[in-house]
Amino acid sequence: MSKNLIIKQCEDCKTVVKVIKEEDSKLFCCEKQMQELSPNSVDASYEKHIPNYEIKGDKISVKVNHVMENDHYIEWISMCSDNKEFTVYFKPGDVAMVEFEYIPGAILYAYCNKHALWKKEVE
Ligand SMILES: [Fe+2]
Repeated sequence: MSKNLIIKQCEDCKTVVKVIKEEDSKLFCCEKQMQELSPNSVDASYEKHIPNYEIKGDKISVKVNHVMENDHYIEWISMCSDNKEFTVYFKPGDVAMVEFEYIPGAILYAYCNKHALWKKEVE
């Protein structure tokens, strides 16, 4: 079973943190408890955020069909399996595309600076 990423965000300053290990912890930022982001998995809007993948032998090519403009872009794509985690970061103007090892059951995540966290499981 793949481990889930735990991503939290400050409601005020919008700082985003990745939690490595959590046991009854309460993270605070701007004097408020940080809230966990729950990943979306259904794209209802015109913008697409769900990471799509194509299997190429022992690798997968992952892409998010999303604008990569200065004020709106995919900041990173991650893949988590039971014992591995990979993250690739992007800048505006990049193509939100990456190759990862093909691990059935792994979970792909994409983070948009405006529309938060999205995920898809690798079959
Ligand atoms: Fe977006």
